[in-house]
Amino acid sequence: MCGIVGIVGDKATARAVVDGLKRLEYRGYDSAGMVLASNVGFEVKRISQDTSSVALLDDWVNAKEVEKVSAAMGHTRWATHGRPSEINAHPHLDCSNQFAVVHNGIVENYKEIRERLLKLGHEFASDTDTEVIVHLVEERFRLNNDVHQAVSEAFEELEGSMAVVVLNLKEPDSLYMMRRMAPLVIGTDLDNLFVASDVPALLDSVTTYFSVPEDTLITGSVRRGKVVLEPVPEVLEVDWDISKVDVGGYSDFMSKEIDEQPRALRDTLAGRVDKVGVISLDELKISPEELKTVQKIVIVGCGTSLHAGMVARYALEHFVRVPVEIEVSSEFRYRDPVLSPTTLVVGVSQSGETLDTMMALSEARASGARTLVISNVVGSSMARMADAVLYTRAGPEISVASTKTFVAQIGALEILALYLADLKRTLFPSEVQELIAKLNDVPNALSEAISSISDYEKTTQTLLGYERFYFIGRNVGYPVALEGALKLKEITYTPSEGYPAGELKHGPIAMIDDKAVVVAIASKSALYEKLLANVEEVRARGAKVVIVANEAPVDSKLRGDEVFLVPRVHQLFSPMVDVVPLQVMAHYISVSRGLDPDRPRNLAKTVTVE
Ligand code: F6R
Repeated sequence: MCGIVGIVGDKATARAVVDGLKRLEYRGYDSAGMVLASNVGFEVKRISQDTSSVALLDDWVNAKEVEKVSAAMGHTRWATHGRPSEINAHPHLDCSNQFAVVHNGIVENYKEIRERLLKLGHEFASDTDTEVIVHLVEERFRLNNDVHQAVSEAFEELEGSMAVVVLNLKEPDSLYMMRRMAPLVIGTDLDNLFVASDVPALLDSVTTYFSVPEDTLITGSVRRGKVVLEPVPEVLEVDWDISKVDVGGYSDFMSKEIDEQPRALRDTLAGRVDKVGVISLDELKISPEELKTVQKIVIVGCGTSLHAGMVARYALEHFVRVPVEIEVSSEFRYRDPVLSPTTLVVGVSQSGETLDTMMALSEARASGARTLVISNVVGSSMARMADAVLYTRAGPEISVASTKTFVAQIGALEILALYLADLKRTLFPSEVQELIAKLNDVPNALSEAISSISDYEKTTQTLLGYERFYFIGRNVGYPVALEGALKLKEITYTPSEGYPAGELKHGPIAMIDDKAVVVAIASKSALYEKLLANVEEVRARGAKVVIVANEAPVDSKLRGDEVFLVPRVHQLFSPMVDVVPLQVMAHYISVSRGLDPDRPRNLAKTVTVE
């Protein structure tokens, strides 16, 4: 969702801003804009051409004469208040053209502020909630003639979750930056100040990163070639490099990220267990003694992250012997859940910024529960608010459809399950060691699955003409079915659903005919035969059958079924390999239809609104 890039100093150019915005494209947007400011004036450009907006802004920059500016600030907008249009694109300016603002998130009390400001004579150019911010700053400045104080007072009035950057166009050597439950990161090199919604936008320029604390106005200025931050925020350790946000020799980020899965999982598992077999988490503000008392685990997340949590539930219940509830973050928060200090609420979030999950965690904390976050972004809002953090080390994920972070999340959650089992002694240390060894085998199995991508693509060719897809699985195969259906609908817009295989006969089987494909997740397990019986039921009703299996059923060829063969791993870890052909299938269908798998319509990578 909305992307922000701001630069003050010698490196403040239209080119640098547009390059930063390009690296935030994955967040999703429908319009884009920028402001360039120097001591002699400013220029604003806004474009609203859906996902071509950044490319068109790029063309505008290319056609422009390179000019020396002091500050440049750009934005990609994902419409919430006011349709996508040039006037609604950011930056927004006040009536006196003194301030420019870019914003990500929602100003919940914008209506009342707008009404008040209208009565005071302010004129609004857009339908956005954002515009009230800049008029509010103008209004405060009119009263106290102090920019810092004006911005600070304006921020105090705003309700909702948001990241905001204000530029004083009359003195373009400073940026005023604030965030509340929305991402924003500051960067510096020797003599330039940078701010952005996410680290990838800044990777080629910044030497030191800083995290913006919640609800704290940070003023960054560049004066006489020196960067000053006031108050000085905490340094953020970032170990991503520019190659990780470059598509390299791949046709798109999704295929690159599918390929990176063995590495993503290996890095996530690496270094978690010391020589004497003790497992460690990254940041633990709960004592192991307290964790031993955990009586119930609740996992919250959205989309793919929720599916990773669903996979882990089986391992947590089996290894740790505690009840595990799992719930969509946006529902959890409003259902008055029964929580206590012996409940551990685990938030799973690639970005660590998804508002629904963040609010669910804050609800959990308020009810006295302990919280733990699985996140891919070091220092993300959720990582900072939780009692404990376990980072996935998948590296930046650019494609909107999650792939490598799904696998890494499951890996991290399995580590958590083994950590708790060890702590609570529900497994013998030797059993924990054995399972860790099996978990450490999964990256190699993933590499084997990746080496079969061309086979998976060949199989997918036989499915191109079908109308509807149903994914079925039992036990850990069920969340894999949900994830397969989500990937397909996200990037191909094909109607697709995931079901527990046993549930088919209670309704969904009515949809089965010869225009339907049924993909069965059928890795060998105790429920294998039962699953094959469900496959019989759909085959008998004309569906095209595809089986994901670590051993091809003997009669599959005879029956005309297609098979995605995957390597065999421990059953509870099998989702990490079973998902690969489903990701490849969705990607192949997307590309065959001429779609861009990295940027599906209507979707944003980081969802910072409710
Ligand atoms: C699907 C996908 C989304 C995210 C969801 C949660 O491919 O990427 O469903 O999983 O929006 O995002 P995070 O994990 O950042 O909280």
